[in-house]
Amino acid sequence: MADYKKPDYWSLKAQKEGYPARSVYKLKEMDERFGLLKPAGRGAGASGGAVFRVLDLGAAPGSWSLYLLRKIGPRAGFLCAADLSPLSRQYDRGLFDGDNFFFIQGDITASGVREKIGGRGPYNLVASDAAPATTGNRSVDTARSLELAETALVYAENVLAKGGSLVIKIFQGGDTAEILKRLKDLFETAKSFKPEACRNESFETYYLGLGKK
Ligand SMILES: C[S@@+](CC[C@H](N)C(=O)[O-])C[C@H]1O[C@@H](n2cnc3c(N)ncnc32)[C@H](O)[C@@H]1O
Repeated sequence: MADYKKPDYWSLKAQKEGYPARSVYKLKEMDERFGLLKPAGRGAGASGGAVFRVLDLGAAPGSWSLYLLRKIGPRAGFLCAADLSPLSRQYDRGLFDGDNFFFIQGDITASGVREKIGGRGPYNLVASDAAPATTGNRSVDTARSLELAETALVYAENVLAKGGSLVIKIFQGGDTAEILKRLKDLFETAKSFKPEACRNESFETYYLGLGKK
């Protein structure tokens, strides 16, 4: 059984590099491997010179948002983030106050939040690390995770630009085959990927859709 209270290699690295959570290294690895923030070659969604727009679902405490804002820069990118909880301001050094950032505190399944998010799109990347608070009951947890994954997929269907990409966190064990099938219909490439920074014993993984058709 892992000791989740004890900071591990990735948590200590995150603190040192100015991120509130170790989860940043999962996104970083997927970005480095699949070029999530590269506009080129992915069709009209990320055309040359245009602002690259990113949606971060389940964003708190804010590591993915910080990584994304640092990477896309103030002139070339815009980030909309949403979470039930507020973001940590410990490491952002004013980045969360920038004009190219908009945070919505709320439930990503709620219609009001959907409207606010939709109004700031379309996006070139939808990244969802949203996860339910775990109960310890695996079938309850996987069912809740599946609902959040489906929500992220619906965002991709509605507000992701052609050529854009999608990252979804999902707990393995539920009906993930259906999600993968829908990803294959929607994207040129669909795959699952477990980054190194996922805890070995964790049953989370990520599904990616690259190049929206
Ligand atoms: C693993 S954390 C995300 C970590 C984040 N990517 C980071 O790097 O800091 C999962 C987040 O999903 C959020 N979440 C779960 N259900 C949600 C919902 N229905 N609407 C919005 N956020 C939700 C939780 O509040 C939690 O902050």
